[in-house]
Amino acid sequence: MTDRRINAKWWKSSTIYQIYPSSFMDSNGDGIGDLPGILSKLDYIKSLGVDAVWISPFYQSPNKDQGYDISDYQMPDPRYGSMEDVDAIIKGCHDRNMKIIFDLVINHTSDQHRWFQESRKSKDNPYRKYYIWRPARYINGERRPPTNWQATFGGSAWEWDETTEEYYLHAFLIEQPDLNWEDAEVRQAIYKEAILFWLDKGIDGFRIDVSSFYSKHEFVDVPIKKPEQYVQPGGDTFMDGPRLKEFLVEMQRETFSKYDSVTLAEMPGTRTLEDKLEFVGESSKRFSMAISFDLASIDHGGHENYFLMWKPYDLKEAKRITEAEQLLSGPKTDGWTLTYLENHDQARCISRFMNDSPEHRVISGKTLAMYLLTLSGTPIIYQGQELGMINVPKEWPESDYLDPQSWMFMRDIRDDIKHGVKSITEQEAFKSLQIVARDHARVPMQWSNEKLAGFSSGDKTWMRVNDSYKEGINVAEEEKEKNSVLNFYKSLLAFQKEHSDSLIFGEHRGIEAENEHTMQFFKKSFDGETLFVALNFSGDKQKISLPDGTTELLMSSSISTDDEGVLQPYEGRIYRI
Ligand code: NOJ
Repeated sequence: MTDRRINAKWWKSSTIYQIYPSSFMDSNGDGIGDLPGILSKLDYIKSLGVDAVWISPFYQSPNKDQGYDISDYQMPDPRYGSMEDVDAIIKGCHDRNMKIIFDLVINHTSDQHRWFQESRKSKDNPYRKYYIWRPARYINGERRPPTNWQATFGGSAWEWDETTEEYYLHAFLIEQPDLNWEDAEVRQAIYKEAILFWLDKGIDGFRIDVSSFYSKHEFVDVPIKKPEQYVQPGGDTFMDGPRLKEFLVEMQRETFSKYDSVTLAEMPGTRTLEDKLEFVGESSKRFSMAISFDLASIDHGGHENYFLMWKPYDLKEAKRITEAEQLLSGPKTDGWTLTYLENHDQARCISRFMNDSPEHRVISGKTLAMYLLTLSGTPIIYQGQELGMINVPKEWPESDYLDPQSWMFMRDIRDDIKHGVKSITEQEAFKSLQIVARDHARVPMQWSNEKLAGFSSGDKTWMRVNDSYKEGINVAEEEKEKNSVLNFYKSLLAFQKEHSDSLIFGEHRGIEAENEHTMQFFKKSFDGETLFVALNFSGDKQKISLPDGTTELLMSSSISTDDEGVLQPYEGRIYRI
């Protein structure tokens, strides 16, 4: 076993807090969160005990996909604030000894980006090559897109452009054309415009959007699953093209490696350990760590036609995924892992994995915190997760769900029903939204029990506020409540730092793989400390066998732990061995 603490980079012992700008804090009463709002809450973030802040895109954007459609990489969008505000946040984080990470969205731009505006003007425009243009194909005299590929959120992945009479490729929305990474000059322009500019300003790294999408596969049709229509769901059509690894090595060499920066690469797709190491092993020279999706998609994503279709998750599967992911930061590899339960693309973890009823919400939130913060690797906490925020109420109508992924999912299902394609019902579809839609994470942060959860002083907010703020789920009340989820996160973050040798850098070993109710594992440090973690994911009491040599119970997520060997419903415990 190697001692992983030696020469460990700063980000290996850091916890990252993610901010979704439009829903974090509104400083000017327009109902949209903004940069001065973020600045005003840096002390709060610091008080949690985290080490770094990641801010989702705040750049200029027509906002078709909440800022993941960027029209100017070097300008904050006016609805969020000015460049002075950005500078103040960078400085504010550094003054508080926190690192600052921005979002890097370079698989695509907005269709309003000047590169695309030029590109679509004519076939001989110098920017034509910045995007992926192809002529139409004609079937029985009818114009069709060049391939039958479906975009990630539904609809064709190709959009016809009248001016030059060609199609362009978009893996996501029509308004998010894909950049052409095949061209070396385009890649250099991306590095200069989107990456080096910010690293030169002193930020500490990037979270990198869909980084496995840059290299495209050959443009050939995917197999036909829905014979009634031309466009076909393709699964991983956009992932892992033949030049991906080459592009990533080049990007790392020309940009990140010149700074002491961290890269959190979003990497959809299931991978083997060997393949993962090609991306996040130190010797692979690509990324610091990857945001993988195996656990995040455990309760959806398996349906062949509808990505958002919900299914109950299986704890044994969650354990298998956890074990596999932990190997990455284990003593036998040069890799590193990133752990998370929530982000702006995932519904609230208590509602998905535990029990969000008033009786069980608090203990569920604390036990999930215990899962996240006892795993090796770098954890990310998403805004509101530290409060135990839950999904929006079931009573909310479909019109309160604003995310294009949600409404395109409902639209496709209605279309399929109309055209007689074998589908699921509208009720089943809406039930899925109630559990796994991205909207649940995007509602305003809950700061207090005052009007609009203390998020905005205006009259209305860009997205409806979750009324749960009135039930004690807010910062002001949780700071005062000794047993709140918030105070538990703070204690656990301090505990994790104190025991970083075993929790972060130690060896992870799961047991009881077949147990359907509990997750149990050991964390063993290089020089001797062993901790034992037992988490109950069920609503019943669970008996556990305490390992030989157990000396003391160090922490529990329950206020009353009466019997040493019996976990309360949803309880988590950490023992010293
Ligand atoms: C992943 C981002 O996290 C998500 O919010 C976005 O919709 C897509 N990439 C497209 O940029």
